[in-house]
Amino acid sequence: MATINAANAGTYAFDEAFKVNRLGYGTMQLTGPGTWGPYADPENGIKVIKQALAYGVNFFDTADSYGPWFADRYLAAGLKDAANRDQIFISDKVGQTRQGPNVWTPHGEPNYLRQQVEVSMMTLGIDHEDLVFLHRIDTHFSIEEQVGELKKLQDEGKIKHIGLSQVTVDDLKAAQKVATIDAVENLYNVADHRDDDVLDYAESQGMAFLPWFPLATGQLAQPGSSLSTMAAKYHVSSAQIALAWLLKRSKNVLPIPGTSSVEHLADNVAAANVDLSTADFNELSQLSVK
Ligand SMILES: NC(=O)c1ccc[n+]([C@@H]2O[C@H](COP(=O)([O-])OP(=O)(O)OC[C@H]3O[C@@H](n4cnc5c(N)ncnc54)[C@H](OP(=O)(O)O)[C@@H]3O)[C@@H](O)[C@H]2O)c1
Repeated sequence: MATINAANAGTYAFDEAFKVNRLGYGTMQLTGPGTWGPYADPENGIKVIKQALAYGVNFFDTADSYGPWFADRYLAAGLKDAANRDQIFISDKVGQTRQGPNVWTPHGEPNYLRQQVEVSMMTLGIDHEDLVFLHRIDTHFSIEEQVGELKKLQDEGKIKHIGLSQVTVDDLKAAQKVATIDAVENLYNVADHRDDDVLDYAESQGMAFLPWFPLATGQLAQPGSSLSTMAAKYHVSSAQIALAWLLKRSKNVLPIPGTSSVEHLADNVAAANVDLSTADFNELSQLSVK
């Protein structure tokens, strides 16, 4: 029987020094309802992070706005004693403020972005950020101001790589005039390819593409979902089919499924063992809204 190991998904190199296993973990489920406040069972959250490490996950996606701060605290606690801490890559996001459950307000004032990077480093217990996404472009400020501030932080050695989240190809092109953009994080999954053009552009430019909502917030993982026939054919779960499809879509795709359950975590990482045939990949691709 194949082992549960994120390394089975293959690797993605952010730079010459840093390769990550392509199947990662997103921390957003480790908060209270509406991504607000503390998660009800912090010990379990930390256990999930530690178990992810045990399954070879070395790529974690997080954001200051998850909680805010709560998910970052659990992530820091879970990674603290990791033997391979120097090989663990964190992608972080700044540029959204929070006023309550399910309320998100972009705020791209350069001083605020700088503050959030500094405070995030303190919360995460790190001396530099591996990758920071501008969580959303704030239309009150220019791309030059927002990405320009991240570039300044990069020049100061506080950020290694810069990314943008929920953007268009034109946004990426505008940002590339200000800094090297190494990653993009947009809503994307087997049932929603509206951002195919962004993914294709990211691949052509050598950027990582992190599809958020890789399981459509769990809908694709439900028994009886549109993936269940294919799941039965491969004797795996629907969640595994959704993740295997993403892994096959492009070598630049790094799925970051979120879960608060060690059982679901095992299920998700084991998706790295599912080898979809090209015909089945193409059949699944027809499910998408465009
Ligand atoms: N850049 C952005 O704007 C943005 C926006 C949203 C999310 N994100 C990132 O993307 C990550 C993933 O998104 P997400 O966590 O919201 O959604 P998701 O990964 O699509 O789905 C998570 C949901 O699926 C359930 N689930 C996970 N694995 C499962 C399995 N094997 N079987 C059954 N159910 C399963 C989880 O419940 P359980 O806890 O019960 O497993 C949870 O309700 C986030 O953690 C965050 O890092 C980024």
